[in-house]
Amino acid sequence: MAKRPYQPKDFFFKKAKESGLRARSAFKIDEIARRFGVFRKGQVVVDLGAAPGGFLQVILGEVGPTGFVVGVDLAEIRPLGRPNVKTAVLDVLALDFDAKLEALHPGPIDVVVSDLAPKTTGIKATDEARSLRLAGKALELGRRRGRPGGHFIAKLFMGGGFEDFREELRGAYEDVKVVRPEATRGASMEIYLVGLRRRAG
Ligand SMILES: C[S@@+](CC[C@H](N)C(=O)[O-])C[C@H]1O[C@@H](n2cnc3c(N)ncnc32)[C@H](O)[C@@H]1O
Repeated sequence: MAKRPYQPKDFFFKKAKESGLRARSAFKIDEIARRFGVFRKGQVVVDLGAAPGGFLQVILGEVGPTGFVVGVDLAEIRPLGRPNVKTAVLDVLALDFDAKLEALHPGPIDVVVSDLAPKTTGIKATDEARSLRLAGKALELGRRRGRPGGHFIAKLFMGGGFEDFREELRGAYEDVKVVRPEATRGASMEIYLVGLRRRAG
């Protein structure tokens, strides 16, 4: 059977547009949130790699007006029109990233979310290594500032280094799940690792 051609304007793209969501990726975080009950009203959530803001729209709905959300990206994020969200143009790999993030919101983080993705080169090993580095940065944040009992969600390109990363995550979170949300494009090699209940200490 012939392969179906790549269709950028697929079902989730159209659904996102109809729902006023900025990116089809919003459905991925929505699915993960529902499956694992990650978010609660009033939580503090940091979203890394947040532009254009699809995840942020869903997360804001989940944490409600008593929650607080920080979204950062290399690209600017259009204002979301809510008082309880701060966005900033930041490179998570920059040396001063941690200090800048802390200036946006100090204190413990209930859920660290990362949809960080490198610009792909087409060279599998390079793309995987870059993705792993970005996910590693998210895990570092979860370890350093994640509230005990809190959660972690990060995208990773499947490949070498995946097993080691999952083991590291298991060291920091009680339960670790691997998810490929329905809205993931057919050919994509991305998966999401979900760490539930940050271990204390
Ligand atoms: C798949 S997109 C995120 C989509 C977003 N979750 C949404 O729902 O709108 C991945 C993002 O990672 C960002 N990114 C990649 N490397 C980064 C870095 N070093 N620091 C900050 N953001 C980065 C890219 O600019 C890109 O916007």
